[in-house]
Amino acid sequence: MKKILYATSEAVPFIKTGGLADVAGALPKCFDKRYFDVRVILPKYECIGQKWKDQMQYITHFYMDLGSKNCYVGIFQLEYEGITFYFIDNEYYFNGPKPYTAAPWDLEKFAFFSKAVLSVLPVIDFRPDIIHCHDWQTGLVPVYLHDSFQGGEFFRGIKTIMTIHNLKFQGVYDVPTVQEITGLSSYYFAPDKLEAYKDGNFLKGGLVFADAITTVSNTYAEEIKTPFYGEGLDGLMRARTNDLRGIVNGIDYDVYNPETDSDIPYNYNANTFRKEKIKNKIALQKELGLEQDSKRMMIGIVSRLTDQKGFDLIAYIMDELCQDAVQLVILGTGEEQYENMFRHFDWKYNDKVSANIYYSEPMSHKIYAACDAFLMPSLFEPCGLSQLMSLRYGTLPIVRETGGLKDTVEPYNEFEGTGTGFSFTNYNAHEMLGVIRNAERVYYDKKREWNKIIDRAMTKDFSWNSSAAQYEELYNWLIGC
Ligand code: ADP
Ligand code: GLC
Repeated sequence: MKKILYATSEAVPFIKTGGLADVAGALPKCFDKRYFDVRVILPKYECIGQKWKDQMQYITHFYMDLGSKNCYVGIFQLEYEGITFYFIDNEYYFNGPKPYTAAPWDLEKFAFFSKAVLSVLPVIDFRPDIIHCHDWQTGLVPVYLHDSFQGGEFFRGIKTIMTIHNLKFQGVYDVPTVQEITGLSSYYFAPDKLEAYKDGNFLKGGLVFADAITTVSNTYAEEIKTPFYGEGLDGLMRARTNDLRGIVNGIDYDVYNPETDSDIPYNYNANTFRKEKIKNKIALQKELGLEQDSKRMMIGIVSRLTDQKGFDLIAYIMDELCQDAVQLVILGTGEEQYENMFRHFDWKYNDKVSANIYYSEPMSHKIYAACDAFLMPSLFEPCGLSQLMSLRYGTLPIVRETGGLKDTVEPYNEFEGTGTGFSFTNYNAHEMLGVIRNAERVYYDKKREWNKIIDRAMTKDFSWNSSAAQYEELYNWLIGC
């Protein structure tokens, strides 16, 4: 039995701020249980719902050194859908209404978490063959493993994988502070280790010391070797090119299934969408106070509101787009400028635009089900899950050809009758508007073609099956090394 431990800062259903939580919650379930024992470890945040906290079982606690501090480490456990989840408890670090705040506090919080991940293993008597780390929050796991956990049999030979979900976030602060927080010696603060551009960098540490690196799409794996997408680490990505591979994300086909989804008013599938999907649109128009017209093309956005997602392009053409026969439904939270931008257009075009500036899982499902198209013109996109959810719900994605969007959305080709969505190349607002208008044209003038695109979109397989197999292959290979 191969033992794998996922170290992550979020996982559904316990805590989620973005796609990482979807991946860390869904992927562990997809491995062949005869050969793989996959468990997950994450912080026991105060903001995790009481419902979950009530189900956690206290295992034990101990104290651990971190820099000059001696810290309490509590361990809780919960079985969920056949997977063992461990939660690291420390109310000093994991308090507050959200998992993340800002540096340097977050750095200290996740230095604690990363070291605790290793410290708990002998205590719970689980020796993983591989620790699979996700994003900068767990970047120090491979570093601490290399540094202070090598004496003795237990840790010897444990392999690490660093998966990049978003290279933009690296966990960076000045070297003296990072050194003080982490307790790592000055040996680690050199440009071939944790130091990047004179700062201490958690993710870089992980990328240097991990045995293998993955990211969440093939295109992003290539893009991050270039200065535009490399976020200052493209040189390192090029240097580790032989250890870097892209494995595209999937989505949880049980949770995101229009046929069984209890969050949507009318269930449907690839055979019944022609009649049933439209009912979800009318229900949502009613709920959000939009003009009730089943024929009106409805475009959805469900997203963190950050510049990564291409909102500058949308802001630039909103007035023009709102002259068209379309409705826009937005669900998201994030940067104030984008929240206010959507609130403004909601006020200005009240019967056409509905800005929902909050976080709601059920509302996101309603939007995936109700809309005709889904707009995701990202500046960069490591993978993107929202477009996969849209495809599954027969809501055609309109995307920019970057990262995982390029790998998962096949542009409609009207001559060959192929494609599952619409896409454009350059980060240019009018190029995007042109493609949206092309989609409008197909929607209004060639409804049968539109429905055939939906047919293809809904029958594409973006479950975890093939990607989980690729991770299995990587795990087998690493363990065999
Ligand atoms: P990222 O991880 O960069 O935010 P992804 O497309 O990979 O982007 O994943 C985003 C996930 O977060 C999807 O599951 C999406 O439905 C969800 N999501 C984003 N914003 C909201 C919101 N306001 N309410 C509900 N779900 C949201
Ligand atoms: C990140 C990326 C997103 C990806 C998600 C899960 O948040 O921004 O593109 O889908 O991680 O891997």
